[in-house]
Amino acid sequence: MSDLQLRSVAKHYGAVRAVVDVTLAVAAGSRTAIVGPSGSGKTTLLRLIAGFEAPDAGEIVLGGATLADGAGAMVSAHRRRIGYVPQDGALFPHLTVAANVGFGVAGPAPERARRVDELAELVGLDRRMLGSWPHELSGGQQQRVALARALAQQPRLMLLDEPFSALDAGLRTATRKATAQLVTAAGVTAVLVTHDQAEALSFADQIAVMRDGRLAQVGRPMDLYLRPRDEDTATFLGDAVIVSALLERGWAECHLGRIAVDDTERRGAARIMLRPEQLQVAEAPAGAPERGTGVVTDVDFTGHACLLTLQVGGADALAAPGETPAPLMVRTTAQGALPVGARVRVTVTGPAHVLGSLA
Ligand SMILES: Nc1ncnc2c1ncn2[C@@H]1O[C@H](COP(=O)(O)OP(=O)(O)O)[C@@H](O)[C@H]1O
Ligand SMILES: [Mg+2]
Repeated sequence: MSDLQLRSVAKHYGAVRAVVDVTLAVAAGSRTAIVGPSGSGKTTLLRLIAGFEAPDAGEIVLGGATLADGAGAMVSAHRRRIGYVPQDGALFPHLTVAANVGFGVAGPAPERARRVDELAELVGLDRRMLGSWPHELSGGQQQRVALARALAQQPRLMLLDEPFSALDAGLRTATRKATAQLVTAAGVTAVLVTHDQAEALSFADQIAVMRDGRLAQVGRPMDLYLRPRDEDTATFLGDAVIVSALLERGWAECHLGRIAVDDTERRGAARIMLRPEQLQVAEAPAGAPERGTGVVTDVDFTGHACLLTLQVGGADALAAPGETPAPLMVRTTAQGALPVGARVRVTVTGPAHVLGSLA
Protein backbone atom coordinates (compact mmCIF):
# COMPACT_ATOMS: atom_id res chain seq x y z
CA MET A 1 0.00 0.00 0.00
CA SER A 2 1.07 3.51 -0.74
CA ASP A 3 2.65 5.98 1.48
CA LEU A 4 2.00 9.65 0.70
CA GLN A 5 4.80 12.15 1.22
CA LEU A 6 4.46 15.89 0.85
CA ARG A 7 7.75 17.76 1.02
CA SER A 8 7.75 21.58 1.34
CA VAL A 9 4.75 21.87 -0.97
CA ALA A 10 3.66 25.41 -1.87
CA LYS A 11 0.95 26.93 -4.04
CA HIS A 12 -0.08 30.53 -4.53
CA TYR A 13 -2.83 32.23 -6.54
CA GLY A 14 -1.64 35.72 -7.39
CA ALA A 15 -0.91 37.35 -4.06
CA VAL A 16 -2.75 34.64 -2.06
CA ARG A 17 -0.40 32.07 -0.55
CA ALA A 18 -2.90 29.20 -0.34
CA VAL A 19 -0.42 26.49 0.69
CA VAL A 20 2.91 27.35 2.33
CA ASP A 21 5.76 24.91 2.92
CA VAL A 22 3.62 21.87 3.79
CA THR A 23 5.50 18.74 4.78
CA LEU A 24 3.41 15.71 5.75
CA ALA A 25 3.73 11.92 5.71
CA VAL A 26 0.66 9.68 5.51
CA ALA A 27 1.29 6.02 6.32
CA ALA A 28 -0.02 3.35 3.99
CA GLY A 29 -3.55 2.24 4.87
CA SER A 30 -3.97 4.97 7.51
CA ARG A 31 -6.52 7.75 7.87
CA THR A 32 -5.39 11.36 8.11
CA ALA A 33 -7.66 14.35 8.69
CA ILE A 34 -6.65 17.84 7.62
CA VAL A 35 -8.58 20.24 9.76
CA GLY A 36 -8.63 24.02 9.71
CA PRO A 37 -10.89 27.03 9.35
CA SER A 38 -12.43 27.98 6.04
CA GLY A 39 -9.87 29.52 3.68
CA SER A 40 -6.87 27.86 5.38
CA GLY A 41 -5.85 26.00 2.19
CA LYS A 42 -7.34 22.53 2.77
CA THR A 43 -9.05 22.13 -0.61
CA THR A 44 -6.00 23.50 -2.43
CA LEU A 45 -3.82 20.91 -0.71
CA LEU A 46 -6.17 18.08 -1.75
CA ARG A 47 -6.30 19.36 -5.33
CA LEU A 48 -2.49 19.41 -5.43
CA ILE A 49 -2.39 15.78 -4.25
CA ALA A 50 -5.10 14.78 -6.74
CA GLY A 51 -3.23 16.45 -9.58
CA PHE A 52 -5.85 19.10 -10.46
CA GLU A 53 -3.25 21.75 -9.62
CA ALA A 54 0.53 21.83 -9.90
CA PRO A 55 2.64 22.96 -6.93
CA ASP A 56 4.90 26.01 -7.29
CA ALA A 57 7.49 24.25 -5.18
CA GLY A 58 8.01 21.03 -3.27
CA GLU A 59 7.44 17.39 -4.03
CA ILE A 60 4.43 15.06 -3.89
CA VAL A 61 5.37 11.38 -3.72
CA LEU A 62 2.98 8.40 -3.59
CA GLY A 63 4.23 4.86 -3.04
CA GLY A 64 7.77 5.93 -3.85
CA ALA A 65 6.84 7.52 -7.20
CA THR A 66 7.12 11.29 -7.62
CA LEU A 67 3.76 12.68 -8.82
CA ALA A 68 4.80 16.32 -8.94
CA ASP A 69 7.83 18.40 -8.19
CA GLY A 70 8.31 22.14 -8.15
CA ALA A 71 10.28 21.94 -11.39
CA GLY A 72 7.15 21.19 -13.42
CA ALA A 73 7.21 17.39 -13.69
CA MET A 74 3.60 16.20 -13.27
CA VAL A 75 1.84 12.84 -13.46
CA SER A 76 -1.63 13.69 -14.80
CA ALA A 77 -4.59 13.32 -12.44
CA HIS A 78 -6.20 10.34 -14.17
CA ARG A 79 -2.96 8.34 -13.99
CA ARG A 80 -2.45 8.78 -10.24
CA ARG A 81 -5.04 6.21 -9.08
CA ILE A 82 -6.33 8.66 -6.54
CA GLY A 83 -10.04 8.74 -5.69
CA TYR A 84 -11.57 12.14 -5.01
CA VAL A 85 -14.89 12.80 -3.32
CA PRO A 86 -15.60 16.52 -3.64
CA GLN A 87 -17.46 18.62 -1.11
CA ASP A 88 -20.91 18.32 -2.73
CA GLY A 89 -20.55 14.73 -3.94
CA ALA A 90 -20.98 16.06 -7.49
CA LEU A 91 -22.84 13.10 -9.01
CA PHE A 92 -23.64 13.23 -12.71
CA PRO A 93 -27.30 14.33 -12.61
CA HIS A 94 -28.17 12.85 -16.01
CA LEU A 95 -26.88 9.36 -15.09
CA THR A 96 -28.60 6.75 -12.92
CA VAL A 97 -27.00 5.62 -9.67
CA ALA A 98 -25.67 2.49 -11.41
CA ALA A 99 -24.17 4.53 -14.25
CA ASN A 100 -22.61 6.98 -11.76
CA VAL A 101 -20.99 4.15 -9.80
CA GLY A 102 -19.90 2.33 -12.98
CA PHE A 103 -18.51 5.45 -14.59
CA GLY A 104 -14.98 4.63 -15.63
CA VAL A 105 -15.25 0.91 -14.80
CA ALA A 106 -13.77 -0.93 -17.79
CA GLY A 107 -14.85 -4.28 -19.23
CA PRO A 108 -17.90 -5.91 -20.81
CA ALA A 109 -21.39 -4.96 -19.59
CA PRO A 110 -22.14 -8.04 -17.40
CA GLU A 111 -18.81 -7.70 -15.63
CA ARG A 112 -19.38 -3.99 -15.05
CA ALA A 113 -22.85 -4.68 -13.67
CA ARG A 114 -21.40 -7.22 -11.25
CA ARG A 115 -18.75 -4.72 -10.13
CA VAL A 116 -21.42 -2.03 -9.59
CA ASP A 117 -23.41 -4.50 -7.45
CA GLU A 118 -20.33 -5.25 -5.36
CA LEU A 119 -19.58 -1.57 -4.85
CA ALA A 120 -23.19 -0.80 -3.91
CA GLU A 121 -23.06 -3.53 -1.29
CA LEU A 122 -19.68 -2.32 -0.04
CA VAL A 123 -20.97 1.20 0.67
CA GLY A 124 -24.30 -0.05 2.04
CA LEU A 125 -26.51 1.15 -0.81
CA ASP A 126 -29.74 -0.74 -1.37
CA ARG A 127 -29.52 -2.48 -4.77
CA ARG A 128 -33.04 -1.28 -5.59
CA MET A 129 -31.60 2.24 -5.72
CA LEU A 130 -29.30 1.49 -8.63
CA GLY A 131 -31.97 2.53 -11.16
CA SER A 132 -32.74 5.79 -9.33
CA TRP A 133 -31.61 9.27 -10.31
CA PRO A 134 -29.29 11.28 -8.07
CA HIS A 135 -32.02 13.82 -7.23
CA GLU A 136 -34.20 11.02 -5.85
CA LEU A 137 -31.63 10.17 -3.17
CA SER A 138 -31.10 11.65 0.28
CA GLY A 139 -27.86 13.51 1.02
CA GLY A 140 -26.42 10.49 2.82
CA GLN A 141 -27.25 8.17 -0.06
CA GLN A 142 -25.70 10.57 -2.56
CA GLN A 143 -22.48 10.60 -0.54
CA ARG A 144 -22.42 6.79 -0.58
CA VAL A 145 -22.81 6.83 -4.36
CA ALA A 146 -19.97 9.35 -4.68
CA LEU A 147 -17.83 7.14 -2.47
CA ALA A 148 -18.70 4.01 -4.49
CA ARG A 149 -17.85 5.86 -7.70
CA ALA A 150 -14.46 6.85 -6.29
CA LEU A 151 -13.79 3.31 -5.00
CA ALA A 152 -14.67 1.90 -8.45
CA GLN A 153 -11.39 3.31 -9.71
CA GLN A 154 -9.58 1.03 -7.22
CA PRO A 155 -7.65 4.00 -5.89
CA ARG A 156 -4.54 3.59 -3.79
CA LEU A 157 -5.40 6.85 -2.05
CA MET A 158 -8.82 8.35 -1.31
CA LEU A 159 -9.23 12.09 -0.87
CA LEU A 160 -12.42 13.27 0.82
CA ASP A 161 -13.21 17.01 0.84
CA GLU A 162 -15.74 17.78 3.59
CA PRO A 163 -17.86 14.87 2.34
CA PHE A 164 -20.26 14.90 5.28
CA SER A 165 -20.87 18.62 5.66
CA ALA A 166 -24.25 18.59 3.89
CA LEU A 167 -25.63 15.85 6.14
CA ASP A 168 -27.55 16.39 9.35
CA ALA A 169 -25.99 15.40 12.67
CA GLY A 170 -27.14 11.77 13.09
CA LEU A 171 -26.57 10.77 9.49
CA ARG A 172 -23.26 12.53 9.50
CA THR A 173 -21.92 10.41 12.34
CA ALA A 174 -23.21 7.19 10.78
CA THR A 175 -21.84 8.01 7.31
CA ARG A 176 -18.49 9.06 8.76
CA LYS A 177 -18.15 5.77 10.67
CA ALA A 178 -19.21 3.74 7.63
CA THR A 179 -16.70 5.61 5.44
CA ALA A 180 -13.85 5.13 7.91
CA GLN A 181 -14.54 1.39 8.12
CA LEU A 182 -14.94 1.11 4.39
CA VAL A 183 -11.68 2.71 3.33
CA THR A 184 -9.79 0.78 5.97
CA ALA A 185 -11.41 -2.53 4.97
CA ALA A 186 -10.54 -1.78 1.34
CA GLY A 187 -6.94 -1.11 2.39
CA VAL A 188 -7.09 2.38 0.90
CA THR A 189 -5.11 5.22 2.45
CA ALA A 190 -7.49 8.10 3.17
CA VAL A 191 -7.09 11.84 3.60
CA LEU A 192 -10.18 13.66 4.88
CA VAL A 193 -10.54 17.43 4.87
CA THR A 194 -12.93 19.02 7.33
CA HIS A 195 -13.49 22.20 9.31
CA ASP A 196 -15.23 20.13 12.01
CA GLN A 197 -12.79 19.18 14.76
CA ALA A 198 -14.97 16.45 16.27
CA GLU A 199 -15.25 14.81 12.86
CA ALA A 200 -11.49 14.96 12.39
CA LEU A 201 -10.71 13.60 15.86
CA SER A 202 -13.14 10.71 15.40
CA PHE A 203 -12.17 9.79 11.82
CA ALA A 204 -8.41 9.86 11.79
CA ASP A 205 -5.27 8.16 13.08
CA GLN A 206 -3.38 11.35 12.33
CA ILE A 207 -4.56 14.98 12.44
CA ALA A 208 -2.92 17.86 10.63
CA VAL A 209 -4.13 21.28 11.78
CA MET A 210 -3.94 23.82 8.97
CA ARG A 211 -3.87 27.58 9.45
CA ASP A 212 -3.13 30.27 6.86
CA GLY A 213 -1.79 27.71 4.39
CA ARG A 214 0.60 26.13 6.88
CA LEU A 215 0.43 23.02 9.04
CA ALA A 216 0.32 24.36 12.59
CA GLN A 217 0.64 20.93 14.20
CA VAL A 218 0.51 17.25 13.19
CA GLY A 219 -0.05 14.30 15.49
CA ARG A 220 -2.34 11.66 16.88
CA PRO A 221 -5.84 12.91 17.74
CA MET A 222 -5.53 12.47 21.49
CA ASP A 223 -2.06 14.03 21.62
CA LEU A 224 -3.24 17.11 19.79
CA TYR A 225 -6.36 17.46 21.92
CA LEU A 226 -4.47 17.07 25.20
CA ARG A 227 -1.19 18.73 24.20
CA PRO A 228 -1.78 21.44 21.59
CA ARG A 229 1.27 23.58 20.93
CA ASP A 230 -0.52 26.92 21.07
CA GLU A 231 -3.77 28.62 22.06
CA ASP A 232 -5.17 28.71 18.52
CA THR A 233 -4.82 24.96 18.09
CA ALA A 234 -6.11 24.37 21.63
CA THR A 235 -9.32 26.31 21.02
CA PHE A 236 -9.75 25.02 17.49
CA LEU A 237 -9.83 21.40 18.66
CA GLY A 238 -12.42 21.95 21.40
CA ASP A 239 -13.45 24.10 24.34
CA ALA A 240 -10.44 25.10 26.38
CA VAL A 241 -9.86 26.84 29.68
CA ILE A 242 -6.65 28.83 29.34
CA VAL A 243 -5.19 30.62 32.35
CA SER A 244 -2.01 32.42 33.30
CA ALA A 245 0.10 30.61 35.86
CA LEU A 246 3.48 30.46 37.56
CA LEU A 247 5.21 27.12 37.07
CA GLU A 248 7.40 25.34 39.54
CA ARG A 249 8.57 21.74 39.13
CA GLY A 250 5.44 20.20 37.67
CA TRP A 251 3.02 22.46 39.55
CA ALA A 252 1.23 25.63 38.57
CA GLU A 253 0.01 28.37 40.85
CA CYS A 254 -3.02 30.08 39.38
CA HIS A 255 -6.40 31.46 40.39
CA LEU A 256 -7.75 27.91 40.57
CA GLY A 257 -5.17 27.10 43.22
CA ARG A 258 -2.16 24.80 42.91
CA ILE A 259 -2.59 22.29 40.11
CA ALA A 260 -0.41 19.64 38.47
CA VAL A 261 0.94 20.30 34.96
CA ASP A 262 2.32 17.99 32.27
CA ASP A 263 5.69 19.72 32.04
CA THR A 264 8.09 19.14 34.94
CA GLU A 265 10.92 21.17 33.41
CA ARG A 266 9.43 24.60 32.77
CA ARG A 267 9.53 27.30 35.41
CA GLY A 268 8.16 30.80 35.61
CA ALA A 269 5.29 32.49 33.84
CA ALA A 270 3.30 30.43 31.34
CA ARG A 271 -0.16 29.87 29.92
CA ILE A 272 -1.74 26.56 30.82
CA MET A 273 -4.76 24.77 29.34
CA LEU A 274 -7.45 22.57 30.82
CA ARG A 275 -10.32 20.92 28.97
CA PRO A 276 -13.69 21.69 30.62
CA GLU A 277 -14.26 17.99 31.35
CA GLN A 278 -11.24 18.13 33.71
CA LEU A 279 -13.07 20.52 36.01
CA GLN A 280 -15.67 19.56 38.60
CA VAL A 281 -17.75 21.80 40.79
CA ALA A 282 -19.41 21.29 44.15
CA GLU A 283 -21.15 23.67 46.51
CA ALA A 284 -18.50 25.65 48.41
CA PRO A 285 -18.32 24.98 52.15
CA ALA A 286 -18.41 28.02 54.42
CA GLY A 287 -14.94 29.56 54.82
CA ALA A 288 -13.55 28.05 51.57
CA PRO A 289 -10.41 29.85 50.39
CA GLU A 290 -10.86 32.49 47.70
CA ARG A 291 -8.61 30.73 45.20
CA GLY A 292 -10.57 27.99 43.48
CA THR A 293 -13.92 29.28 44.71
CA GLY A 294 -16.35 30.96 42.33
CA VAL A 295 -19.89 32.01 41.62
CA VAL A 296 -22.10 30.53 38.88
CA THR A 297 -22.97 33.34 36.47
CA ASP A 298 -24.69 31.36 33.70
CA VAL A 299 -26.18 27.90 33.11
CA ASP A 300 -26.48 26.61 29.55
CA PHE A 301 -28.51 23.39 29.48
CA THR A 302 -28.44 21.40 26.21
CA GLY A 303 -29.83 18.06 27.38
CA HIS A 304 -26.96 15.61 27.71
CA ALA A 305 -24.67 18.34 29.02
CA CYS A 306 -24.88 21.43 31.09
CA LEU A 307 -22.28 24.18 30.69
CA LEU A 308 -21.77 26.36 33.75
CA THR A 309 -20.03 29.72 33.52
CA LEU A 310 -18.19 30.68 36.69
CA GLN A 311 -16.46 33.77 37.91
CA VAL A 312 -13.65 32.50 40.08
CA GLY A 313 -12.20 34.70 42.78
CA GLY A 314 -8.53 35.09 43.63
CA ALA A 315 -6.27 37.11 41.42
CA ASP A 316 -5.10 35.46 38.22
CA ALA A 317 -1.44 34.89 39.13
CA LEU A 318 -0.17 37.02 36.27
CA ALA A 319 -3.11 39.24 35.45
CA ALA A 320 -2.57 42.96 35.60
CA PRO A 321 -3.60 44.46 38.97
CA GLY A 322 -7.36 44.83 39.13
CA GLU A 323 -7.94 42.59 36.11
CA THR A 324 -10.56 39.91 36.68
CA PRO A 325 -9.72 36.45 35.38
CA ALA A 326 -11.67 35.27 32.33
CA PRO A 327 -14.87 33.37 33.17
CA LEU A 328 -14.47 29.64 33.54
CA MET A 329 -16.54 27.03 31.67
CA VAL A 330 -17.34 23.77 33.43
CA ARG A 331 -19.36 20.86 32.04
CA THR A 332 -21.66 18.99 34.37
CA THR A 333 -24.55 16.60 34.02
CA ALA A 334 -28.05 17.99 34.43
CA GLN A 335 -28.09 16.37 37.87
CA GLY A 336 -24.86 18.12 38.86
CA ALA A 337 -25.93 21.57 37.70
CA LEU A 338 -26.03 24.37 40.25
CA PRO A 339 -28.15 27.50 39.93
CA VAL A 340 -26.94 30.97 38.96
CA GLY A 341 -25.58 32.68 42.05
CA ALA A 342 -24.40 29.47 43.75
CA ARG A 343 -20.94 29.59 45.37
CA VAL A 344 -18.87 26.64 44.18
CA ARG A 345 -15.49 24.99 44.70
CA VAL A 346 -13.66 24.00 41.53
CA THR A 347 -11.51 20.88 41.52
CA VAL A 348 -9.28 19.67 38.72
CA THR A 349 -8.79 16.10 37.47
CA GLY A 350 -5.58 15.29 35.60
CA PRO A 351 -2.73 17.64 34.78
CA ALA A 352 -3.09 20.94 32.98
CA HIS A 353 -1.14 21.24 29.72
CA VAL A 354 1.58 23.86 29.51
CA LEU A 355 1.13 25.67 26.19
CA GLY A 356 4.26 26.08 24.13
CA SER A 357 5.55 22.68 25.23
CA LEU A 358 6.20 20.25 22.43
CA ALA A 359 3.43 17.75 21.76
N1 LIG B 1 -8.59 28.93 -7.96
C1 LIG B 1 -8.30 29.88 -7.09
N2 LIG B 1 -7.98 31.14 -7.48
C2 LIG B 1 -7.67 32.10 -6.59
N3 LIG B 1 -7.64 31.92 -5.26
C3 LIG B 1 -7.96 30.71 -4.79
C4 LIG B 1 -8.31 29.62 -5.66
N4 LIG B 1 -8.57 28.53 -4.90
C5 LIG B 1 -8.40 28.90 -3.61
N5 LIG B 1 -8.03 30.22 -3.54
C6 LIG B 1 -7.72 30.95 -2.29
O1 LIG B 1 -6.78 30.19 -1.56
C7 LIG B 1 -7.08 30.22 -0.16
C8 LIG B 1 -7.31 28.80 0.34
O2 LIG B 1 -8.52 28.31 -0.21
P1 LIG B 1 -9.04 26.82 -0.02
O3 LIG B 1 -7.92 25.88 -0.32
O4 LIG B 1 -10.28 26.65 -0.80
O5 LIG B 1 -9.34 26.79 1.55
P2 LIG B 1 -10.27 25.80 2.43
O6 LIG B 1 -10.58 24.59 1.62
O7 LIG B 1 -9.46 25.53 3.65
O8 LIG B 1 -11.50 26.59 2.78
C9 LIG B 1 -8.27 31.14 -0.01
O9 LIG B 1 -7.80 32.41 0.29
C10 LIG B 1 -8.93 31.08 -1.38
O10 LIG B 1 -9.63 32.28 -1.63
MG1 LIG C 1 -12.45 23.76 1.06
